Amino acid sequence: MLVEKNVPLQFSNTFGIMAKALALVRIASEEDVAAVLADPALQAVPKFVLGGGSNIVITGDVKPLVLKVEIKGKKLAGETAKAWIVEAGAGENWHDIVSWTVHNGYPGLENLALIPGTVGGSPVQNIGAYGVELQDRFDSLDAIDLTTGKSFTLNAAQCAFGYRDSVFKHSSNGPNGLGLAGKALITRVRFALPKAWKAVLGYADIEKKMAQFASVVPDALQIYEWICEIRKAKLPDPKVIGNAGSFFKNPTVTPEQCADIILREPKIVHYHLDDGSVKLAAGWLIDSCGWKGKTIGNAGVYERQALVLVNRGGPANPVTGGEVMTLAKAIQTSVYERFGILLEPEPVVV
Ligand code: EPU
Repeated sequence: MLVEKNVPLQFSNTFGIMAKALALVRIASEEDVAAVLADPALQAVPKFVLGGGSNIVITGDVKPLVLKVEIKGKKLAGETAKAWIVEAGAGENWHDIVSWTVHNGYPGLENLALIPGTVGGSPVQNIGAYGVELQDRFDSLDAIDLTTGKSFTLNAAQCAFGYRDSVFKHSSNGPNGLGLAGKALITRVRFALPKAWKAVLGYADIEKKMAQFASVVPDALQIYEWICEIRKAKLPDPKVIGNAGSFFKNPTVTPEQCADIILREPKIVHYHLDDGSVKLAAGWLIDSCGWKGKTIGNAGVYERQALVLVNRGGPANPVTGGEVMTLAKAIQTSVYERFGILLEPEPVVV
């Protein structure tokens, strides 16, 4: 096992923030995790599991031992009466898996095309886009307990998925005592992809495509292509402009709170959810406070989607994690002052 020292992380996080891992081990298999945990010098040290780095803000050199997940592999692992079960290694690029499944006759992940990151990160924040969340297509995952070294498998219920949330985002000190944050390394994820596939269309951007190509009855490949076009038009490609996707979650409020805000802000973008609560579009809230296109230091608010914070310095003079967090706090303050709503950041601050 090789422990690399002072490893640059600039190209291992999609913001492109410059920082080092003081020590890093590449994890290409379950055996590599076992080797780390069997090493007397490493078994007890704090560890940080790094996937695609697409949902993190690094605020300085990373002191915990970085376990960089590079477990590869994809296959049809089985089938049930209703679904194809596809398994992928946690280190596989997310979009590559979406593309592979759609092109090989296992539809269902097409609405999640082009989301940056790796397969292992997908259940952590229950990634979602255009009406589909990972939990809708999830079968189970394998992980290793970083304290005991034991392997375990979780089904969807055990992952406790919520909106951009799972058991992997909570520490065990939480109110229900459940939580795997920082305690487990996901090795493989299995997806249940419906044999009786139906397009998920009920989203404004997709409806526009349907209206534009009214004679087309879209199959999964067509939806996949539309989603790629929609995302490319709206969201910055992290390879070109560093970013971590949506920086804040869309907040939910009670219908009474929403009615109260509408009195003051009649144009507020909101959606009624099945559970009776109302989701507000954080991008609209930030946009209405005039943040779109603004910059603090090298941290900016993307011109085409105010929910996305970007690295304006590029690779030569990259944004720092501190600048990103300063901008994020300034946005939180102005949205709170105007709407009385505290936006919750989505990425993990390291
Ligand atoms: N809006 C504005 N101004 C803006 C941005 C948005 O007025 O600057 C309005 C839009 O016009 C629209 C509404 O806000 O009416 C919602 O915007 P959009 O459809 O772009 O979706 P979103 O709620 O901002 C969410 C996810 C995205 C996902 C899209 C599509 C979250 C935090 N974000 O964004 O996920 O791609 O829906 O499903 O839930 C991510 O998590 O990183 C991510 C990109």
